[in-house]
Amino acid sequence: MLLLSIETSCDETAAAVVRDGREVLSSVVSSQIAIHALYGGVVPEIASRNHLEMISPVITQALHEAGVVLSDIQGIAVTRGPGLSGALLVGFSVAKALAFACGIPFVGLHHIEGHIFACFLEQTVAFPFLALVVSGGHTHLYHVEGFGRYTTLGRTIDDAAGEAYDKSAKIMGLEYPGGAKIDAMAQAGDAKALRLPRPMINDGTLKFSFSGLKTAMLQHVRKHPLDIAGQAANDLCASFQQAVCDVLVSKTLAALQQTGATRLVIAGGVACNSGLRAAMTRLASQQGVQLHIPKPSLCGDNAAMLAVPGNHYLEAGLASASDLDVAATWEMDRIKEILL
Ligand code: KG4
Ligand code: ZN
Repeated sequence: MLLLSIETSCDETAAAVVRDGREVLSSVVSSQIAIHALYGGVVPEIASRNHLEMISPVITQALHEAGVVLSDIQGIAVTRGPGLSGALLVGFSVAKALAFACGIPFVGLHHIEGHIFACFLEQTVAFPFLALVVSGGHTHLYHVEGFGRYTTLGRTIDDAAGEAYDKSAKIMGLEYPGGAKIDAMAQAGDAKALRLPRPMINDGTLKFSFSGLKTAMLQHVRKHPLDIAGQAANDLCASFQQAVCDVLVSKTLAALQQTGATRLVIAGGVACNSGLRAAMTRLASQQGVQLHIPKPSLCGDNAAMLAVPGNHYLEAGLASASDLDVAATWEMDRIKEILL
């Protein structure tokens, strides 16, 4: 099937044209980051307004770059949730309207389902596999047995990994969103310079917690005012990154051992992180596990990733009903209630 996919759950307006859930003909991402950076974080009302302004041009560009016209499209895959309601509504309403006008089916998807399957755009991974999703809103370990068949093994009890990065960056005086900036600075720093806490690392559960690490960052910066351009700032970034990666690796190892999984997928914006990519590569080779981390442009929010589950559901005849609404909160374990 030739699908148009649309993503507007947070601060990126994205559209893509993908054939058979595999071949990306175009993937357009219009980021609002520069606008939200002025406020130190995403402002929901501003996000919705920008999605409204950008959704039409972004879809038009995706069709144009793919060399197709709307009447070639056979189905639409769109993020239904979780995310900001007003932001979700823009992409979701446009998807519904286009599907109605063109007489084609649409399917409303879970944003994280898109992240998990982004790597399928590079290489199909056999089921079952373990997926670690690390993004601005998620730090979750899932056992994935098939499309729509996800068991949450563990999750954060407070901040998500990306949130910990962004909040710590803010504490250090770096611009929003600071994840990539901490990553860049960490590469010039000494990860052993400071011993920061690794919350819940050896508690025998698959739960994550990052708020204590963030508090430790705050206390450190209060005691030792930082020169952002100095070596101490790089060392702090490297030490922070090491603490986050140690926790993510340790819990992922425990989940691999618990499930006996031999395939591991890392997904979400934080999967762009150079330290995490290196640490997971080491873990996979030590454990003899097949590792799949998509290229960075497929880790962050994009619409192409939605076409993988979208194509599967639409080919199986599992289109969404026209009265389906967005879901600001939506647990992965409850996908079946809507879709299957
Ligand atoms: O998946 P994503 O694009 O959006 C959500 O669904 O949340 O993830 C965004 C998150 C942000 O917190 C951002 O700071 C973080 O991913 N991020 C990174 C890096 N690149 C993006 N965190 C650490 N290192 C990076 N290189
Ligand atoms: Zn995301």
